[in-house]
Amino acid sequence: MCHKLFLFCLCCWSLTGVFGDSVSVMEGDSVTLYNNVTELHEGEHTLWKFGAENSRIAKTKKNKQIFSTYNGTDGRFRDRLKLDDQTGSLTITNITTEHAGVYQLEISGAHLTTRIFNVSVYARLPVPVVIRDCSSSSSSSSSNCSLVCSAVNVGHVTLSWYKGNSLLSSISVSDLSISLSLPLEVEYQDKNTYSCVLNNPISNQTQHLDITHLCHTCAVPPVSVSLTVLISVGSLLIVAAVGIFFICRKCRKIDKEGKFETREDEITYAETTFYKRNTQKTKVKEDDHVEYAPIALRR
Ligand SMILES: *[C@@H]1O[C@H](CO)[C@@H](O)[C@H](O)[C@H]1NC(C)=O
Ligand SMILES: *[C@@H]1O[C@H](CO)[C@@H](O)[C@H](O)[C@H]1NC(C)=O
Ligand SMILES: *[C@@H]1O[C@H](CO)[C@@H](O)[C@H](O)[C@H]1NC(C)=O
Ligand SMILES: *[C@@H]1O[C@H](CO)[C@@H](O)[C@H](O)[C@H]1NC(C)=O
Ligand SMILES: *[C@@H]1O[C@H](CO)[C@@H](O)[C@H](O)[C@H]1NC(C)=O
Ligand SMILES: *[C@@H]1O[C@H](CO)[C@@H](O)[C@H](O)[C@H]1NC(C)=O
Repeated sequence: MCHKLFLFCLCCWSLTGVFGDSVSVMEGDSVTLYNNVTELHEGEHTLWKFGAENSRIAKTKKNKQIFSTYNGTDGRFRDRLKLDDQTGSLTITNITTEHAGVYQLEISGAHLTTRIFNVSVYARLPVPVVIRDCSSSSSSSSSNCSLVCSAVNVGHVTLSWYKGNSLLSSISVSDLSISLSLPLEVEYQDKNTYSCVLNNPISNQTQHLDITHLCHTCAVPPVSVSLTVLISVGSLLIVAAVGIFFICRKCRKIDKEGKFETREDEITYAETTFYKRNTQKTKVKEDDHVEYAPIALRR
């Protein structure tokens, strides 16, 4: 008898555990876990707990006017909890993935009741990116254009190609934070509308395909690409070096400005200094222009 009762209780417990309210929320949003009463009764106490370790995160004792929220054992709830002192409902603001999990509300009054909330937090999705895959063999031949749709740093998502409203292909990932990509081959003359969709259970982001724009030409082969990049980086560096040289020269002039009455003096001074520095540098290694600045002044 007792054994049966125990099993029954265990069953109820696990049922509430599994069938607690499921709440899905987007990262950065706020979510309210409702204690569905219009008002707490006098003498009724509520206690909110979070996670497997059942850490206390909020409590109310209406008769004692106690309405407290806590930071959680590791401080993850700091400045994020709001308690409704009428109903005992709990709001989590600016939620992040570390606030996902099971929340338990215990209401003790005439008898103890427990409500379970299973909160899932989903990341905000980036818009997937479509690029032409020039390394693909079929890209160089035929009338086909190879494309790749990708999304970086995503978890618990599905990436799909649609032709109009029909699904062509898709790939899913359940892990956290990986990169996904999905190829598509289209003909240059294809007039259908294609779109690449990234979605999780509560949201999606779509990239529409513009064949005429993307499939126009393939870039230069990879080796030449890196060579071009090298050359342009090299020339940029040279331009930057020359630019910095002239800016520095200008700075030196400005540094000494104010010590001279007229503009003419200034120019003469700058030229002599520059000349002096050059000759001096051949003899002395250290840059001693700070020292001879007063000398120039005396002259
Ligand atoms: C909470 O919900 C998620 C997603 O719906 C599910 O995978 C998980 O098993 C649930 N956890 C509990 C304890 O019910
Ligand atoms: C609370 O919700 C449960 C079901 O989720 C419902 O049976 C019950 O009547 C609600 N209580 C109140 C006071 O609204
Ligand atoms: C919670 O964090 C606040 C700072 O935001 C701090 O002042 C307070 O002492 C912390 N409370 C507990 C119980 O750790
Ligand atoms: C939300 O939380 C994130 C991460 O903890 C933080 O960087 C951001 O500043 C918060 N935003 C607001 C509006 O509080
Ligand atoms: C070109 O793409 C179509 C699908 O759009 C495919 O059926 C066909 O086999 C491809 N042809 C080549 C040569 O890859
Ligand atoms: C994307 O989300 C919108 C609502 O935001 C919905 O109408 C649409 O069907 C979704 N698309 C896909 C492919 O899931």
